[in-house]
Amino acid sequence: MSARHFLSLMDCTPQELGSLIRRAIELKDLRKRSVLFEPLKNRVLGMIFEKASTRTRLSFEAGMIQLGGQAIFLSPRDTQLGRGEPIADSAKVMSRMLDAVMIRTFAHSTLTEFAAHSQVPVINGLSDDLHPCQLLADMQTFIEQRGSIAGKTVAWVGDGNNMCNTYIEAAQQFDFQLRIACPQGYEPKAEFLAAAGERVRIVRDPREAVAGAHLVSTDVWTSMGQEEEAAERLALFKPYQVSRALLDAADPSVIFLHCLPAHRGEEISEDLLDDPRALAWDQAENRLHAQKALLELLVEPAYHHA
Ligand code: CP
Ligand code: NVA
Repeated sequence: MSARHFLSLMDCTPQELGSLIRRAIELKDLRKRSVLFEPLKNRVLGMIFEKASTRTRLSFEAGMIQLGGQAIFLSPRDTQLGRGEPIADSAKVMSRMLDAVMIRTFAHSTLTEFAAHSQVPVINGLSDDLHPCQLLADMQTFIEQRGSIAGKTVAWVGDGNNMCNTYIEAAQQFDFQLRIACPQGYEPKAEFLAAAGERVRIVRDPREAVAGAHLVSTDVWTSMGQEEEAAERLALFKPYQVSRALLDAADPSVIFLHCLPAHRGEEISEDLLDDPRALAWDQAENRLHAQKALLELLVEPAYHHA
């Protein structure tokens, strides 16, 4: 039987995503009440990180431990994968020892190739194209605070990067309208835009994108792997900074989300994360709860005793 993977939000139905978010909220409550819940005892998650991480590593590692299992951190510096062992061979071997694998990588094809040869679920912990685990936490945060996001308007301001692509998928799966304000030449990938059709609109003016929006989000102007473009991007993206004044143009109930890490004075004003409309810390915490719900869905519990 081939394993079920989570490489994109499109790997789940809208109904499954709704259940995942509800479950994440329940698991958050269980943890708040210090209830022991260990369905993944004896289960092991391998985590391959080809890029840096704070939140993704901690939330998966802590999440597995809290669910009764364990997680193993694998860096390309220490594995044969990092020395050129083929992805397919690595997937075959690793998936015979692990119960799930999370991968943070550059090319999205690394994930699809690994998944094609893996006997166990593969989870996208961020690729150059997509960051679906982050969107689970973002959607959880909005739904907890404001209820259903269906029919609402979301504004993405800044780079048309992996986070922006994932918001485009979320617009389809969670049924909201998305306006993207980005500079010319920094649009999200055409394939994601094409799949979303009328649901997503590109504008150039951040105020136009934000007008009446219920959720505003942004991300760094220079993503991991683009470091040599940083100076050029800094100049180009200047008009796209999200500030308190920009949020004032949104709906009075607006919330602001940032996947973090944030660069104050660049994509957000110095004071934005201190604004009561900014919920980035709850959003970061929700990575833990949302991914525990995901692990519970994907990883088979080890129920049988010898
Ligand atoms: N938001 C996010 O994925 O953070 P890390 O890069 O710290 O994992
Ligand atoms: N777009 C950013 C997200 C970091 C969580 C990056 O890819 O570096």
